[in-house]
Amino acid sequence: MENIILIGFMGCGKSSVGKRLAGSLGMDFIDIDVLIEEKQKRTISDIFAQDGERAFRDMETQCLHDLLGEKRNAYVLSVGGGLPIREENRQLLSKLGKVVFLRVTPDVVYKRLQNDTTRPLLQGKNPRGRIADLMNARREYYEAAASYIIDVSDKSFTDIIGEIVNVCGKETI
Ligand code: S3P
Repeated sequence: MENIILIGFMGCGKSSVGKRLAGSLGMDFIDIDVLIEEKQKRTISDIFAQDGERAFRDMETQCLHDLLGEKRNAYVLSVGGGLPIREENRQLLSKLGKVVFLRVTPDVVYKRLQNDTTRPLLQGKNPRGRIADLMNARREYYEAAASYIIDVSDKSFTDIIGEIVNVCGKETI
């Protein structure tokens, strides 16, 4: 069974969709942000504050190499919103499985994350503008990495999971 990789902007639902999807397909669920936090024994906010974004990006790349080198049961993998920006990461993702881009609008992200304190990149004065700018800058990389694109802004979990299963050709259990 091929792994399924979920990519997309912060707040698009990669983790919440991914957990449910993995459950309905009988696959494991892995979240790269969680792997990094467990390995580092500190939060992503602390990693950004103490080591900087560049060091965090290197950790993401290392995690992908580690996953590629491991033998595991089939899994659904959620990766941080900035991970597909590096070309090396996009290549690693395509080796790891089928890449599905969960596309969301800036308004939905803003509504979901306006009170969030765990995303260091959105803690500035104008989060709404920051979301729009970052999303614009990242769109081409998400599209380049994706085998499939699914618009998720106004859809239920059931619909989103149904679409992913459809494009990835899996049978739910
Ligand atoms: C980031 C997204 C976050 C996390 C980090 C940086 C980004 O993950 O990796 O805060 O650059 O978009 P989520 O997309 O799961 O929120």
